[in-house]
Amino acid sequence: MKIGILLGSTRTGRQSHKVAHYLEKKLQERGVATDLIDLADNPLPILEERAGRHPQVQARVQALSARLHEADGLVFVTPEYHGSFSGVLKNALDHFWEEFGRKPIGVVAVSAGKLGGINASTQLQHVVLSLGAFAMPTKLLVSEVQSAFDESLQPRSEHVVKSTQRFLDEYLWFARAIVQAKQAPTERAA
Ligand SMILES: Cc1cc2nc3c(=O)[nH]c(=O)nc-3n(C[C@H](O)[C@H](O)[C@H](O)COP(=O)(O)O)c2cc1C
Repeated sequence: MKIGILLGSTRTGRQSHKVAHYLEKKLQERGVATDLIDLADNPLPILEERAGRHPQVQARVQALSARLHEADGLVFVTPEYHGSFSGVLKNALDHFWEEFGRKPIGVVAVSAGKLGGINASTQLQHVVLSLGAFAMPTKLLVSEVQSAFDESLQPRSEHVVKSTQRFLDEYLWFARAIVQAKQAPTERAA
């Protein structure tokens, strides 16, 4: 099973990448293959048309499409901006459709304040349903992110360690259940 981590923060001086890298490390420690898709390294144009319908899909949109296709499941990492998830993440999601179909999606939200991006996370879970994907009910919220990690990207608090562990336990259960169900032969009513 391969899990893509889609990092929806490209801001200069961003903090959310710390959470994305920590999640990647923790997944790899559990023997899970990962692909960290950093939208700062793969900037997408403002949407003109979805990849599947665009007459001349740009190479970087195609490259990202292939990476999303390859992932059995995805974790979306977003900062909370003005009470919602980031515009750069929404723009990226809008380029694609088939890439997400029936995939298990975990939502992770990050904020500078104490609420850990709760509004961003709830709104993003709602959007996941419109992608034709499955949003896991449990999410990971990282509050006061600017002081949550040390220089080597280790969490400073036991709370972040434990909540990440719980989130990944739940996500891997959820993702494996969906991946296995998709591999099973379809039952048809007699
Ligand atoms: C444009 C903008 C809007 C923001 N709006 C909120 C907000 O509504 N709620 C909140 O808790 N934090 C808000 N913040 C603070 C961010 O959550 C904080 O900068 C956090 O580090 C976001 O992740 P990033 O560093 O990856 O951008 C905002 C930050 C920016 C840049």
